[in-house]
Amino acid sequence: MYAMELNHITKGYLDGDRENLVLNDISLKVNKGEFIAILGPSGSGKSTLLTIAGMLLSADKGNIIINGSSMDEMKQKEWTKIRREKLGFIFQNHQLLPYLTAEEQLILAADMKPFSSKEERNSTVDELLAELGISSCKKKYPKQMSGGEKQRVAIARAFINRPEVILADEPTASLDGTRGRQIAEMIRQEVKHRNTAAIMVTHDERILDLVDRVYRLEQGKLLLSAL
Ligand SMILES: Nc1ncnc2c1ncn2[C@@H]1O[C@H](COP(=O)(O)OP(=O)(O)OP(=O)(O)O)[C@@H](O)[C@H]1O
Ligand SMILES: [Mg+2]
Repeated sequence: MYAMELNHITKGYLDGDRENLVLNDISLKVNKGEFIAILGPSGSGKSTLLTIAGMLLSADKGNIIINGSSMDEMKQKEWTKIRREKLGFIFQNHQLLPYLTAEEQLILAADMKPFSSKEERNSTVDELLAELGISSCKKKYPKQMSGGEKQRVAIARAFINRPEVILADEPTASLDGTRGRQIAEMIRQEVKHRNTAAIMVTHDERILDLVDRVYRLEQGKLLLSAL
């Protein structure tokens, strides 16, 4: 069973009276334990595809299957639950809430489900902050952190519920080469240790050695690329 299957995803935007077909019948299967990258020119639809995979946007056509469950059969109301329990989203611009500390950002995202108690949840928060090297940020607000620290809090937040699929939209874009590579390494480690799956959109060719497969999105089509 695949961690995530995208089947025949089609999405267009209305541009005046013409349709701009951004995703033209795209299919993608990602195994558990697999880390894949999507490259492509600006405007090629990478964020659109990831947002659809993350169930933050609906496709015009096509279906998503997460760990064997077809999203076709889900009501839009149930999407929030699926997002919280099965998916971890890392946005390019981290999107932390300004009025919460690092610790509070993680607690807010934590669905109580994977934890048997508040104590267990709290110790997972501490563990994740330590793993990502940001224990010192626990009580800090975003405005007190550096760009790289904020990005790592966003990653910790995406990992807290032990998602089955991690979706990362240019997670390394705002970081220098070394920090960017560390972020990609952290995603890889999570994927390999927990046997989850990750799809990462990136422009950074220097981190492609960390992923298992590379695709290119061009003119509405997703093509497998040589590493
Ligand atoms: N809400 C929207 N309404 C209309 N057009 C949109 C909308 N969102 C995206 N588009 C268009 O869809 C195309 C794909 O956008 P998308 O953001 O997915 O590209 P991208 O590959 O992520 O680009 P980048 O590398 O610059 O982030 C673009 O031409 C964009 O203008
Ligand atoms: Mg984008």
